[in-house]
Amino acid sequence: MHDLRQPILPGKGASDYERYLRTDELLALQKLPEEFLHKDELTFQVVHQASELLLKGAVWELERASQHIAEGDLLNATRLIRRANQMLGYPISMLHILETITPYDYHLIRAGLGHGSGLDSPGFVALLHIGPRLGEAFYAQLQKAGLTIQELYRRHVEFFGLHDVAERLLDFDERIHLFRFHHLKLAQRIIGGGVIGTMGTPVEVLHQRMEHLFYKELWDVRNQITEKANEMAQKSGTAQE
Ligand code: HEM
Repeated sequence: MHDLRQPILPGKGASDYERYLRTDELLALQKLPEEFLHKDELTFQVVHQASELLLKGAVWELERASQHIAEGDLLNATRLIRRANQMLGYPISMLHILETITPYDYHLIRAGLGHGSGLDSPGFVALLHIGPRLGEAFYAQLQKAGLTIQELYRRHVEFFGLHDVAERLLDFDERIHLFRFHHLKLAQRIIGGGVIGTMGTPVEVLHQRMEHLFYKELWDVRNQITEKANEMAQKSGTAQE
């Protein structure tokens, strides 16, 4: 009979939990207390590292989803986009943790960042790459079905699967937008909106970047639907103000 308390997996660590998750290495990825420039630095590092892990997880699921869309497996595509979107919720909410660092304390931490900038975040850069590829896979399926976006939304019951992909892509676009919005507010309250970042980029650029959308057509179609609804209401004499 095996002793179930003994580890059986290869690797370092006293238990299989520690070996499987490689907690020894994971928990050694932060500065030591004697290296901190300020005691808030652990929070700053943990929030960034945890965000990178979740962004990595989200990108992985979106890549799988893109493959499913290309293969016409829309149910699995929406399942995975939904999962990725849930993962993205955490880096957004974790930004609020950093709002508890005061501007003066942050500058002590910032002095040790070198030219480090979120513009080089591997997870965020990967998201910016997968976004358009997901869109291409979606538009290829739309074309295959012989539909425009407007028709897809009008015939949403008939084309439920493709419509659901469109809605989940919209959720994804919204998450990116929300990340940028809350991140801009964080930067404004910690370092100010009128200054230059660690890589020479003005914080104002973060404001401009918020105008970027992956799937503008999916947002615009709502305007067209409302215009059409208003036209019809006007014709039947029941126009809403
Ligand atoms: C005290 C907290 C933070 C401050 C003051 C801050 C500040 C900035 C600034 C000034 C920029 C503009 C580029 C530059 O010059 O560096 C930037 C970009 C960026 N930061 Fe942060 N940041 C903070 C936390 C975070 C966290 C927790 C993440 C999570 C991954 C993050 C991700 C990013 C990303 C992805 C960009 C590029 C944004 C885009 O493309 O729209 N930042 N940050």
